[in-house]
Amino acid sequence: MKVAPIKASRSRFSASWMRSGRIDYLWQTFAVLSVAGLSWLYFSMYGQLPPDRNRVLVLAFGCAGTILAVLAASLSVRKRLAYQGVGKLSAWLNAHIYIGIVSAFAILYHSGFRMGSPVPAILLSFYWFTIVSGVMGLWLSRKVPPLLTAIEENPAIIEDLLSVRAECLRGMLELAAGGSAKFSALVKDSLLPQTASWKRMGRFYRNRTTFAEEISAFQKEQEWALGWLAAPEHRAYQRAGEYALRVNKMNAELLLHRVMRGWLTIHITTTAAMFGFAALHIFSVLYY
Ligand code: HEM
Repeated sequence: MKVAPIKASRSRFSASWMRSGRIDYLWQTFAVLSVAGLSWLYFSMYGQLPPDRNRVLVLAFGCAGTILAVLAASLSVRKRLAYQGVGKLSAWLNAHIYIGIVSAFAILYHSGFRMGSPVPAILLSFYWFTIVSGVMGLWLSRKVPPLLTAIEENPAIIEDLLSVRAECLRGMLELAAGGSAKFSALVKDSLLPQTASWKRMGRFYRNRTTFAEEISAFQKEQEWALGWLAAPEHRAYQRAGEYALRVNKMNAELLLHRVMRGWLTIHITTTAAMFGFAALHIFSVLYY
């Protein structure tokens, strides 16, 4: 029998991670060198040059900061394009972060660590909100998705979570409406507050637990209530407890989804306001 020769495969080994590691390293080098260069210029020259040359230096910091901020914001354009050969989104995000950081130093030196008159002060406030929200978003985008994956049973979008939450709340209230007066009172006073309890949501986050892992502990905590109810209502109360915990769990997941959406909204809004005030500032410097 003839055995086919084993061909050496050239496509098995992907070098793309090496490339992306190298590009990341290049961006880091760019950021470190740029920040070092800007800092050297600022600390060795600012305030020690004749006034007209000092003004040129200040303007140069401002121009560099603005151009870099515009470049950083171009990520927004890339996100709205299909691939079209303009580079991976992850590479753009990396560039965005490093360019944004260098821009922050250029603007810091442009302002000379002062807030100044109202327009520059508002402009700087929006600028720093943009930078701080960006750094916060980067941190959140590393922390929140793994937490969400740990606590959710099935990956779901916000609309699914809202509909499951509404169904469970309805289920619990229907059970309360169909039960005895004591049963309704216990659901209202003991289970309903649990649906919105921050402490309970915190337990999902802290312990990284799913609904299935929390339900037995929750039922144990609620056991005291069974003593107030007739035996035929015990199962219904436990069912209402399951609904209550499910609602709380949906709230815990919804909060994480909203945090992920919310920070980007803040980042984009402060960016837009910052560019608006930057235009006003540049106009007033050029014409007055
Ligand atoms: C001049 C400074 C900056 C400007 C003008 C800026 C602007 C923007 C804009 C407009 C977007 C939204 C893209 C979109 O969804 O349309 C964005 C996204 C983002 N920015 Fe910034 N940013 C700046 C600095 C930073 C910094 C310093 C960081 C982090 C250290 C950062 C982290 C991020 C992240 C993580 C995203 C989300 C990208 C994604 O959706 O995956 N930004 N930025």
